[in-house]
Amino acid sequence: MRARGNGIVLIGFMGAGKSSVGPELATRLELPLHDIDSMAAGAAGCTISEIFAREGEAGFRVRETAALAELREEPAIVVTGGGIVVAPANIEALRRLGMVVYLSANEETLWRRTGGGDRPLLQTTDARAVFSHLLKIREPLYRATADFVVDTSPQTLPETVETLLNLLQDSCHHHAS
Ligand code: S3P
Repeated sequence: MRARGNGIVLIGFMGAGKSSVGPELATRLELPLHDIDSMAAGAAGCTISEIFAREGEAGFRVRETAALAELREEPAIVVTGGGIVVAPANIEALRRLGMVVYLSANEETLWRRTGGGDRPLLQTTDARAVFSHLLKIREPLYRATADFVVDTSPQTLPETVETLLNLLQDSCHHHAS
């Protein structure tokens, strides 16, 4: 088995809370935060929406994988974009970084939380159907990639952060590294 790093990687669908929970977790644990969407945007010198507009989703995926490849297996919180699990090589790279936590939520909750967000994949007339379809395809991938699944549906943001802190504390006792 390949060695695992000391990172904590947050995965999940749009609206799962990755971008809100990640920074809070990093502050509480005094760990650096690496947000792959931000890294990709920073490298491109424009926003995610602009990358999609200029290069399409395929262009964005290349940049996303390149940003992921820059990360080291150090103690850090890693925030990912919802589509990162679609490429099998990304899944392997995420697991190498450390412990992978899937922030899950039911579809209604995810849709409500995504509301008004600037998601390039949802700039379409059938956004609701696209949302549902993508979730159906990705849900099994998130589960297969994750070491732990946290259902965030019934929880507020501070509650989810506490749940994660408890989970990480418990898992320390069982983790060799
Ligand atoms: C995407 C989700 C976005 C961002 C990009 C593509 C997706 O991140 O990476 O718009 O394919 O689900 P969030 O999950 O933070 O919205």
